[in-house]
Amino acid sequence: MPRSPDEKALTDRLSKLYPLGQSKIMLEIERRVCGCDYGGTSWATRHEAEEIAKLLALVPGRRLLDIGAGTGWPALYWARMTGCDAVLADVPLAALHIATERAAADGPTGDCWAVAAEGAALPFKNGSFDSVSHSDVLCCLDAKLATLKECRRVVRPGGRMVFTVIFPPPNLASADHERAVRFGPPFVATAAEYPAMLQEAGWSTTHRRDLTAEYAKSVQHLLHEEAAHAEQLSELYGPAEFSETLTRRRMTAQVIGKGFLRRELFAATTAPFPMS
Ligand SMILES: C[S@@+](CC[C@H](N)C(=O)[O-])C[C@H]1O[C@@H](n2cnc3c(N)ncnc32)[C@H](O)[C@@H]1O
Repeated sequence: MPRSPDEKALTDRLSKLYPLGQSKIMLEIERRVCGCDYGGTSWATRHEAEEIAKLLALVPGRRLLDIGAGTGWPALYWARMTGCDAVLADVPLAALHIATERAAADGPTGDCWAVAAEGAALPFKNGSFDSVSHSDVLCCLDAKLATLKECRRVVRPGGRMVFTVIFPPPNLASADHERAVRFGPPFVATAAEYPAMLQEAGWSTTHRRDLTAEYAKSVQHLLHEEAAHAEQLSELYGPAEFSETLTRRRMTAQVIGKGFLRRELFAATTAPFPMS
């Protein structure tokens, strides 16, 4: 499926932001807010990554596919921490280059590969992986159901998938939904709820956890750090872009506080495909 202009614009934007995320000040802020320093763009904290590693049953020799892997958070951390093998898939090449450099610098880990690929068109044979993960990725792409179906196709029978995602809760008034869409991640709106999409894609949900309180706390913490380092960040991003980012993030914090955006973790295992 051809990428829409909005999807291309997001990739262009991320291609510029990922290298800036490697600056000393950005890595320091990330350490304080999320407990990691990969130049990540999701809200996954180190604590959360450790919980997910257990849910994915990551051990040496287990093959993980991380979709929307960015610069390697959290997949490279898992490869280092658990010894699992990891394939990192994403669209911006700038992010994957940073990830491969980090993998080389990290020292002994499981095997790691980076692949330029779309979540909805994965270049792998059926059943290639034991585990699949994605951190706040489905809210950054349009083809949510198609991506969940591809994840199902490339995981082996009995394999696992764990992901986090941000979305507007169902039954919001339309003005509130509009605010969630305006101030949430770029593709936060969904045509169907995630449990229904998981079922349609051939997954059985095994675990679901609301992470909204942690998400709200991280956004507030990041706002605090950005305000405290405004001068350095203005220089890094340019004053206009930094000011716009800060204003938008304050609106995002408000929208989360009002309950118009939720962040959840879903864990699933393969279900037999329904007979057609
Ligand atoms: C919120 S970021 C998460 C990145 C990284 N995993 C992290 O935690 O920092 C979402 C990622 O999804 C990627 N993405 C967007 N559309 C995609 C698509 N169609 N297929 C695969 N990845 C996509 C973006 O390029 C971005 O790197």
